[in-house]
Amino acid sequence: MQQVVKLERPRSTTDARTTIDDLVQDDRVRAKVYTDEAIFDLEMERVFGRAWIFMAHESQIPRAGDFVTSAIGRQPVIVVRAADGSINVLYNRCPHRGAIVCRESEGNTHRFACPYHGWNFRIDGELSGIPFRNAYDDAFLEGENLSLARVARVENYRGFVFASAAESGPSLVDYIGPLKDGIDNLLDRSPTGEVFVSAGVHRYRYKGNWKMQLENGLDEYHPPFSHASTVRPGGQQLQRAYAAKTGYKVLSDKDPNQADAKSHYDHGEVHGARYGQAFLTIPDATRRSELEVPEYRQALIDRHGEQKALDIIANSNMSNAVFYPSLIVRVSGNMHIRVVRPIAVDETEVLVWPMQVKGVPDQVNKGIVRYANVHVSVSSFVQTDDLEIFERVFEGLQAGKPDWVMLARGYGREWEGPYPDEKVGYATWETGMRAQFRYWKALMSEAM
Ligand code: FES
Ligand SMILES: [Fe+2]
Repeated sequence: MQQVVKLERPRSTTDARTTIDDLVQDDRVRAKVYTDEAIFDLEMERVFGRAWIFMAHESQIPRAGDFVTSAIGRQPVIVVRAADGSINVLYNRCPHRGAIVCRESEGNTHRFACPYHGWNFRIDGELSGIPFRNAYDDAFLEGENLSLARVARVENYRGFVFASAAESGPSLVDYIGPLKDGIDNLLDRSPTGEVFVSAGVHRYRYKGNWKMQLENGLDEYHPPFSHASTVRPGGQQLQRAYAAKTGYKVLSDKDPNQADAKSHYDHGEVHGARYGQAFLTIPDATRRSELEVPEYRQALIDRHGEQKALDIIANSNMSNAVFYPSLIVRVSGNMHIRVVRPIAVDETEVLVWPMQVKGVPDQVNKGIVRYANVHVSVSSFVQTDDLEIFERVFEGLQAGKPDWVMLARGYGREWEGPYPDEKVGYATWETGMRAQFRYWKALMSEAM
């Protein structure tokens, strides 16, 4: 277990503001934003307690009574389809003495029954039964709200369901900004306008802070080094154990340390916009393998007409869309939903659901699932390198010096994008992380 650095918890808003101002500058952040327990506690209240948090894809709960359990920060919730087709997000906490009501990760039910004393609830959360109820006065039962509490806001953008524990704030569409275009393009690439989640889930944890995974989803600086074994013909695996004699070294045909060396990944861009929303682009989308399947192209042309179908393919250049603070969607290629759940300052859970496309030949969907398995599963070639790195970062940050983590790559050179506060840079720039920390700073400085 890594050591966790401790900081005095700020006692007032003014203290918090001074503390937060000291933690984040435009091009750098203090190491403690990743290692301090008090900062993590404040994040759970002020970031996860306010933001739109991804709950589920609609296809996971198609029928009345279908549910999945999820979390808003550390708060457990149930996402359930009601009899009228609407989706409710309920706090997974018994109003009696507090037990988690539903332990399953998914299922179908006509009621939820608490395992402690048997109180039970309808799928809209309403209390439907209390065992041996005559020990309670009728006036008490009538006067109290003893149903499962509802999360304040739930919105669904084209099948992607989000919830916010805050009563007010931006609408989901305003909040996700440019990432809406990614979802639209993803769905336009389906001949029926639909994607679905039914290939199971990869679920794993790493010993490190949640922000490391969110940042890594926007980091095209690292692949030639962290993922040398995958992206370079002569590349080697990271050295996995201390004192191992073989393993990682930077390999390149051309020395990347030369002044004029340019990363191949800088053919793409990184965009960072308001509310910390950010994404990567890949310029060679039209050469992606699934789009080369003739029946798939024809199905798209049948749906949209030739010109529009070709435009959709040509515009399909968003790769990772990182929905701050809880979700990475691979919008093209090996489409998947990757949820990042903070467990503790030094522990993070990652859940990955491959997404499949309706109305395409089976081989396309098999290809998507296979590609997701080799990319982001717990036994993949790629994500395992990242998990190793996250733990090394957490370990390295225990060093008392230097004070700062540098996010300065491309700082001051970006150009403007079309969405509010959107900045654009080359893909290896740290533009996305800077956008995330701009919003982090705003949320963390504002008392609830
Ligand atoms: S805690 Fe749920 S019934 Fe008692
Ligand atoms: Fe990576």
